[in-house]
Amino acid sequence: MHYLCMITLLIASATAFTNNLNRLLLDFDLSQTDLSEVDEKWIEQPLDHFDSKEKRTFKMRYFENLQFWQPNAPIIVFIGGESEQDPRWVSNHDIFLTVKMAKETHGALFATEHRYYGKSKPDISQDNTIEYYKFLSSHQALEDLASLIKMLKSNSKYKSSKVVVVGGSYSGSLAAWMRELHPELVDAALSSSAPVLAKKDFQEYLDTVRYTFGKYGSDGCLDKIKNYFKVDEDLLKTPEGREELKKKYNICPEVDMAVLENQQFFFYWFEYTNLKLISQYGLPQNVKAWCGQKRQYQLEIKPIWQGGCNNLDFKSYDWTKQNFAEWIYQTCTEFGYEQTTSSEKQPFVHWNPLEFLLKFCKGFVNGDIEKTIDEGVARTNKRYGGLTPNVTKVVFTHGDMDPWHPLGVLQDLGPDAPVIMTNGTSHCGVLGVKRGEPEEMKKDRKHVTELIIKWISQ
Ligand SMILES: *[C@@H]1O[C@H](CO)[C@@H](O)[C@H](O)[C@H]1NC(C)=O
Ligand SMILES: *[C@@H]1O[C@H](CO)[C@@H](O)[C@H](O)[C@H]1NC(C)=O
Repeated sequence: MHYLCMITLLIASATAFTNNLNRLLLDFDLSQTDLSEVDEKWIEQPLDHFDSKEKRTFKMRYFENLQFWQPNAPIIVFIGGESEQDPRWVSNHDIFLTVKMAKETHGALFATEHRYYGKSKPDISQDNTIEYYKFLSSHQALEDLASLIKMLKSNSKYKSSKVVVVGGSYSGSLAAWMRELHPELVDAALSSSAPVLAKKDFQEYLDTVRYTFGKYGSDGCLDKIKNYFKVDEDLLKTPEGREELKKKYNICPEVDMAVLENQQFFFYWFEYTNLKLISQYGLPQNVKAWCGQKRQYQLEIKPIWQGGCNNLDFKSYDWTKQNFAEWIYQTCTEFGYEQTTSSEKQPFVHWNPLEFLLKFCKGFVNGDIEKTIDEGVARTNKRYGGLTPNVTKVVFTHGDMDPWHPLGVLQDLGPDAPVIMTNGTSHCGVLGVKRGEPEEMKKDRKHVTELIIKWISQ
């Protein structure tokens, strides 16, 4: 069951690059979803908010649910991040915090789709990748949100409505930054599991995975993991061993596993990705179950599953053609977030150094990759303030198991910008009720709602 779930998500979101909100939906019981009250809408946006000479536009999609609406009640916007927006986030489901908040406040509910993702892609030439992605950035996306909120507020029925923005992961950063850049448009924000600090070598990610397996796994689990690595590392050392490894993982016969980047790619998919996903999306009981189970090898993982075998020939890939290319572009030009094995504190050996992970940026940047990331990271942190964004009326929530939390705001920024850390939970746990979540989570979720309601009542 657990593995089934993981295979599905790897096909859907394909990787450790992801801090994809839609992955969360897999853990919710959404069998009763009723989308009849959710409308799909479009708003025309300038392709470039910062250059008035650029006249081209694109259509941005959003969803609207007015079933709880009463006059003077707030507008609540669930911000889309690095994936297609899913209308279920604003369907009538008590599982979702945003929906419950709308019910309690009689709010008008919206969910936006981020530019370049889902159906909100600009209709411009894709012949040149770098030219195509020129208008994809968090800064442009924030202005898209601003123009949407302005458009809504121009409607007399929302004249006295307060505005609340909610987001998780990357869109959690956008929620905090919206309140920071546009306090005149946004009155309060929930920023869940947001990596607000951009960082090139994000070695703390795997440190946190180590913490999660150490704290919540069964005794000896870390040693067990180390042993998995050792067995495969030993196989890689000899020609016979490499043949055996290829059989064990159903790697395509023509792939040369003596090539270093293919070996690094092997560890990326078959070792790190598994561990990362459990830590990022699991609960303590999932970690324990993983530690206890017999190792399985036959993961048919896309996009490396081709023609009946796993293609680990790294040089055969063009990452600009993969369906998560947009997010790779953003990491290469704005955020870094490379989940390296550089840290000495993590026991999972050192098969994914920065120089390997930077290879995914090939084709997305002109010139020197590392320099582009360094400049992007510096620009991002300067623009938004890194770990100390200048905000009030923003609540930052985190789970201790979530490997993204080291890049988040972990200290209260003031009485009206508190941090809530919930132990035994992972990425964006506050946004929806998961089966088997700790009791603490329910209490903290209630606390978040109370804070937001207090802030918009002032
Ligand atoms: C922080 O934001 C407030 C209100 O928006 C503004 O008045 C103040 O100048 C900002 N402080 C800094 C250091 O940017
Ligand atoms: C949460 O876990 C951390 C680290 O393991 C610990 O220091 C802290 O006391 C825990 N908090 C609560 C409320 O249990």
